[in-house]
Amino acid sequence: EKVILAYSGGLDTTVIIPWLKENYDYDVVCVCINVGQGNELDGLEDRAKASGAVKLYIEDVVDEFVDDYVVPCVKAGAVYENKYLLGTSMARPVIAKRLVEIARLENATAICHGATGKGNDQVRFELGIKALAPDLKIIAPWRIWDISSREEEIEYCKDHGIHLPFSADNSYSRDRNLWHISHEGLELEDPANAPDYDHLLVLGVSPEKAPDEGETLTLSFEKGIPTTLNGQSMKVSEIIEKLNALGGQHGVGIVDIVENRVVGMKSRGVYETPGGTILMEAHTALEELILDRDTLAYKKGIGDKFADVVYEGKWFTPLREALQAFVDSTQEYVTGDVKLKLYKGNIIKQGTTSPYSLYNESIASFTTGELYNHKDAEGFINLFGLSLKVRAMKQGGLK
Ligand code: ARG
Ligand code: SIN
Repeated sequence: EKVILAYSGGLDTTVIIPWLKENYDYDVVCVCINVGQGNELDGLEDRAKASGAVKLYIEDVVDEFVDDYVVPCVKAGAVYENKYLLGTSMARPVIAKRLVEIARLENATAICHGATGKGNDQVRFELGIKALAPDLKIIAPWRIWDISSREEEIEYCKDHGIHLPFSADNSYSRDRNLWHISHEGLELEDPANAPDYDHLLVLGVSPEKAPDEGETLTLSFEKGIPTTLNGQSMKVSEIIEKLNALGGQHGVGIVDIVENRVVGMKSRGVYETPGGTILMEAHTALEELILDRDTLAYKKGIGDKFADVVYEGKWFTPLREALQAFVDSTQEYVTGDVKLKLYKGNIIKQGTTSPYSLYNESIASFTTGELYNHKDAEGFINLFGLSLKVRAMKQGGLK
């Protein structure tokens, strides 16, 4: 029998290979899914084989990840607990989907992942797998075995004849893809501690270290989807890649948050989402011009719900589809150009235009225009405030 192992090449997933063979007698098929984490894929096959795997798949799903998972979150304005742009959360379902596809291809009966029993990722992987392939067995070694440290993992590998170079350093717990990198652990575990940005940051610098000269850029959107950067058409994945470099350089998109995990605990993390932060900000600027007041307000609630659904790993659900359909309907006219300046961690608006802008200068201007009569406001306020006035009179305020 075969098991599909979500494999990164690191110690945490390598040690699982001998463990699966020893405890279940499985043939282990490793699958390394590229969502833009930028790690070295060379030599991965040798490494997997040396650890006892029968096969290694390396799957590039970057564009699928961006187009089908990231873009819907951008359109929705999905932000978890006011700060987290969901980088890890939105990648888990596409990974689960590809693991299931390969399980089918290989006639495997089980899928194994290396998420711990304390986190959100186990929930996301497993809800994804259950939704797409309810018959497959799911194995989560971190909830089963007694291994509890990096040293023990190396020990276990050695005892099973795997002699690979693993660095002994205990660094942050990180998760990276094209959209972001997360950092948890070390000094971050105590919210009383300041983050050590010199040691921690990977995608960019802190605002203090950013250049004194800002950088201006222009993004265009069509129906809520980013299409060009500085006038050049490119795939959304390329736009994100370029914005990551620019944003990182200017200290943009660093977030430090204590968040509520699905499993009940609070956890502290730092996220770097340079390109994503710029994209979200630009998209929001455009919606300000284009969406009417009621739609904008209602969409805010939908976006918050969308964020919860994504965070909780409920991607493959009717609710997510329905929320996405609402969001897509609001994006019909979200087309236009947004100019922004990046400066020491800030994103400063430099002007927004759209052929569908509802902004009307002659209405908004302080000098009277045709469409707006100041005198109408009095009657409007009389009716708008009538219930307040009636209540105050009833309560015996001023007679
Ligand atoms: N707390 C974040 C989330 O739940 C990041 C998780 C990072 N995962 C990891 N395996 N290091 O989305
Ligand atoms: C893990 O526990 O595997 C990483 C953190 C998380 O999933 O929330």
